[in-house]
Amino acid sequence: MISEIHNIFKIRRQQIFFLDDPNDINTVSTTVNIKLTEVTFDNVGYVTYFRSKKHATKFYGFLEEGQYGIYAWIDSQVVGHAWAKICRKCRCRVSGYMDISQNEAFIHYCNVSKSYRGKNIYPAMLAALCQKLFSKVKVQRVLIDTEINNKASLRGITKVGFKPLGEGIYIQVRGRLIYKYEHFKYSK
Ligand SMILES: CC(C)(COP(=O)(O)OP(=O)(O)OC[C@H]1O[C@@H](n2cnc3c(N)ncnc32)[C@H](O)[C@@H]1OP(=O)(O)O)[C@@H](O)C(=O)NCCC(=O)NCCS
Repeated sequence: MISEIHNIFKIRRQQIFFLDDPNDINTVSTTVNIKLTEVTFDNVGYVTYFRSKKHATKFYGFLEEGQYGIYAWIDSQVVGHAWAKICRKCRCRVSGYMDISQNEAFIHYCNVSKSYRGKNIYPAMLAALCQKLFSKVKVQRVLIDTEINNKASLRGITKVGFKPLGEGIYIQVRGRLIYKYEHFKYSK
């Protein structure tokens, strides 16, 4: 019941970060051996090692839309994922609430398998994704956000070298954005 209400009515309080210079991306070492690969139509389904089939279907859709994804692997098992939407139009809305501009990327849908958390896999994925977005996709700025009380995510984001941009409050009803308040340190 509560989760149903949560799905209908969602309040997000987000901290938003940015990177606009690839030289600011820190090198991140993981405490386990992982391999990072781009998500492709061939390997997208392997995420079901730690996520549901619904996620595999969603990620297939991300690939069809032209989003970039990174999987972290331990041996033949996917233990983490991170995705980025690139805006090619004048303005794009991502995840139903975040607006980004042309040639910006927004990182979302990040998760690390519970058994492998605390080993720097998330920041390693973010760093690899950012490198790719700057070098191959030629984005001008990468944005990422997280809920203000998501300490693990905030730690991971900071390790990569992201800088704080500001905060946002977003209210969605059945996925539709009905209220938005953003406060930025720099112009967005
Ligand atoms: C947020 C998340 C992706 C971080 O992944 P990660 O690979 O564990 O990240 P890190 O290794 O950098 O750990 C970050 C912090 O998590 C905490 N942590 C350490 N061990 C942990 C464990 N076993 N379980 C949970 N959190 C742990 C620590 O505070 C750590 O910071 P530290 O390295 O300074 O001690 C992961 O916790 C996760 O998937 N959470 C659920 C989904 C989510 O919140 N996604 C991000 C939304 S943008």
